Amino acid sequence: MREKIGSKENYEKIGPTAWGVAYMRSLSDIKYAGEIFKELEIKIKPADSAGADYLETIRSSRLAPQPEARFKLINNLLQGNKTDQILEIAAGLSPRGLSMTEDHSLKYVEVDLPEMARNKRQIVERISSRANLERPNLYIEDGDALDLDSLLSAAEHFEKRPISIVNEGLMRYLNFEQKAAVARNVHALLEKFGGAWITPDITLKRVIDHEQESEDNRKKVMVLSGIDIENNSFNNEKEAKLFFENLGFKIERHGFSEASPQLTSPRKLGLTPGEVQKLLQDPVVFVMRIK
Ligand SMILES: C[S@@+](CC[C@H](N)C(=O)[O-])C[C@H]1O[C@@H](n2cnc3c(N)ncnc32)[C@H](O)[C@@H]1O
Repeated sequence: MREKIGSKENYEKIGPTAWGVAYMRSLSDIKYAGEIFKELEIKIKPADSAGADYLETIRSSRLAPQPEARFKLINNLLQGNKTDQILEIAAGLSPRGLSMTEDHSLKYVEVDLPEMARNKRQIVERISSRANLERPNLYIEDGDALDLDSLLSAAEHFEKRPISIVNEGLMRYLNFEQKAAVARNVHALLEKFGGAWITPDITLKRVIDHEQESEDNRKKVMVLSGIDIENNSFNNEKEAKLFFENLGFKIERHGFSEASPQLTSPRKLGLTPGEVQKLLQDPVVFVMRIK
């Protein structure tokens, strides 16, 4: 049976994988990653044995340089495509909003499904009150990447000038029809405001295969989310490029290895340069603008 686009039941199950990324980022020097993970550990426990099993896999994983590079490369690209308005879709437990809004001249809007957004608001409030942080320019809104109205409503915080739109770790869970729906929504937002879409959610088969080789991750993510990522992946970069070009974007491509001099997790995990290079050689970030 075909999965219904916008069926929230499925997406809410992606939540625990956000926990995994938050853990891996806590092995790096990314600002607030450690604080967020600490709060998370107090607040959220795995709901069942599949969840507990997944967390165990993540704790023994050696993939952390990948999310660290992804996070840092996106930051570099946000710097290079400077706007003072950022929309992060499916922001989950990412510390980017909390960190970037230290600069009060910037507006940062995060969107995620209601349960995740509620958890994130609580976590941000606790960290902010403990460390006396003022974040009047950070907004955490309920929204669905597949629902343009919810994104437009979150974007009401912005002035009518260019925005940067970011999402990381969302589209691997979406089938091709759903990826296209997200791309069309982003296109509509960029038509309205101008700006760029910066995303590593290109989901190349080689990257997924390598992750799975490293550990038996796919089976666990599948049990947890009911989603087989392999079916959602592109055979190669050319195919991915064509997909987004056909949806009205022009593409600038960046490899994860651009961020390799900035990484701190490899040392913590005792990885050799060769092992790190293997992790970073295939994944890419696309910076996309409307044609
Ligand atoms: C693997 S997590 C990544 C989170 C975050 N970007 C990060 O790097 O930590 C995937 C996130 O996508 C969110 N999500 C899943 N489906 C969504 C949808 N349709 N709209 C918005 N967010 C969604 C989940 O709630 C979760 O926070």
